Amino acid sequence: MRIYAAKDYKDMSRKAANLISAQVIMKPDAVLGLATGSTPVGAYEQLREWHDKGDLDFSAIRSVNLDEYKGLSGEHDQSYRYFMNHNLFDHVNIKKENTNVPSGLAQDAEAECRRYDGVIRELGGIDLQLLGIGGNGHIGFNEPCDVFEKGTHVVTLTEETRRSNARFFSSIDEVPTHALTMGIGGIMSAKKVLLLASGEAKAQALYDSCFGPVTPGVPASVLQLHNDVVIIADEAALAMIRQKTGWEGEVYDN
Ligand code: F6R
Repeated sequence: MRIYAAKDYKDMSRKAANLISAQVIMKPDAVLGLATGSTPVGAYEQLREWHDKGDLDFSAIRSVNLDEYKGLSGEHDQSYRYFMNHNLFDHVNIKKENTNVPSGLAQDAEAECRRYDGVIRELGGIDLQLLGIGGNGHIGFNEPCDVFEKGTHVVTLTEETRRSNARFFSSIDEVPTHALTMGIGGIMSAKKVLLLASGEAKAQALYDSCFGPVTPGVPASVLQLHNDVVIIADEAALAMIRQKTGWEGEVYDN
């Protein structure tokens, strides 16, 4: 894995948008694996700006999102479908029918997970998977556990994740207890992975993921086994890596 240091959130977002743009320009019908949460918002904003300037064309791009809350419709303002429409899809020339987010309302959530894996397969796999990281090391909603789950599956969200995401809801009681998430196998089958991390709350998880043992107890640690991972992290998120490794530069090959 290659770690790039960014000065701050803005710098991280701009660097990330540069890599995503490069993918879109090099392969105009690329399959982008997309993430939600606060981390990628700045990168999406930058992509919108470059699209508005006429520098980016999403007309043939296909996308698959990592996850969705179980029980929320795409119209719910905290659903991940709503987030994607609001932060990116409604503002660029991507065709909505080419965008995929698991359905939170599917009657049979297990069947929806199998359908979603089929969608990823039919698209021919993911060219570039964008990831954030949870304070507990989760990627997608693959929470710390005893095994790496391969396919898309239904998860019970940890209290820590629900508490952390409660900031987007009016109270923690409104945060769904379950979600549908792409599995570790799906994420690992992406040709390239781009993980973003910002803020001190991510420092421990980022250190453990990059330098600790590969274990489902820290789901992002599995990325050490992928041969094309780029991490862009701001100084606050890098604090523990800097401290424990003594690395002072801008690029670290691990
Ligand atoms: C979002 C996702 C999550 C987030 C993670 C970090 O689609 O899959 O893994 O990337 O929870 O969230 P933020 O960016 O809000 O800190």
